[in-house]
Amino acid sequence: MSRGYEEAPEVLTNGAAVIAHNVRRSFNGRDVLKDVNLTIQGDEFVALLGRSGTGKSTLLRILGGLDADYEGDVLVPQRRAVVFQESRLVPWLRVAANVVLGLRPGNGGRAALRARGLAALAEVELAEHARDWPLTLSGGEAQRVALARALVREPQLMLLDEPFGALDALTRIKMHALLQRLCARHRPAVLLVTHDVDEAILLADRVVVLVDGEIALDTRVDVKHPRDRGNPAFVDLRNQLLKELGVNEVDVAPSLLHAVSGGDRQFHRQDPEKI
Ligand SMILES: Nc1ncnc2c1ncn2[C@@H]1O[C@H](COP(=O)(O)OP(=O)(O)O)[C@@H](O)[C@H]1O
Ligand SMILES: [Mg+2]
Repeated sequence: MSRGYEEAPEVLTNGAAVIAHNVRRSFNGRDVLKDVNLTIQGDEFVALLGRSGTGKSTLLRILGGLDADYEGDVLVPQRRAVVFQESRLVPWLRVAANVVLGLRPGNGGRAALRARGLAALAEVELAEHARDWPLTLSGGEAQRVALARALVREPQLMLLDEPFGALDALTRIKMHALLQRLCARHRPAVLLVTHDVDEAILLADRVVVLVDGEIALDTRVDVKHPRDRGNPAFVDLRNQLLKELGVNEVDVAPSLLHAVSGGDRQFHRQDPEKI
């Protein structure tokens, strides 16, 4: 069994932030990831699509250093941050303390660390909630705190596991716009796990589809910004991705498509919603 997990001090010299080579992972004798090869460039935004149970979170956990029991080789940057579907805030710490939880004060001491936390909260437009308790936040606000907690670590790689999956449609649209602004400003490499086809096309430079533990499709998103769900290139790519996921837009009732995509009103070709 070969296994290598290496943290590169900076982005790799060839510009890649992630290199996963022949990654396999099995649980109880069942292969969940079969032979995954994935490279992510230093400032690239990659969406990882797949049906429930195909191994998306398994791959994300391996890249995040949260699961060591795999075969193959993984090279990732040292500064990584993971955001999950639940915000995972510590309820007995105020919002500002949650943002910097686990970080050690540097030369500037605790005051400088606190200032960094407040700056990150301001970036997600939650500065006024710094002294609030997590349980008083809405779901969207809690996820914004989770994004601030990721950002304050100045990650070279952001691993996002269905971070907007539990949010309502309107909040999700706002979160998409916020994530785009943050990524444009900080330029981390991003791996966004989602089962929402439109979310992947709206946000990513590249979409990778995992089917039965293997990468079945790896394609660039050639849709001009701002991306419009009605753009023919958007519609074509959506159809291609749905097909890869085993869903046929024409054959399936919209309510079922809604369930598959996890999204809201995403399959109406004339949907005027833009972000
Ligand atoms: N710790 C674990 N022990 C046993 N089986 C697991 C474990 N983690 C994940 N699995 C199994 O691996 C498969 C893929 O899981 P996961 O990566 O969470 O899927 P996804 O995120 O694509 O929905 C599932 O069948 C799941 O039950
Ligand atoms: Mg998952």
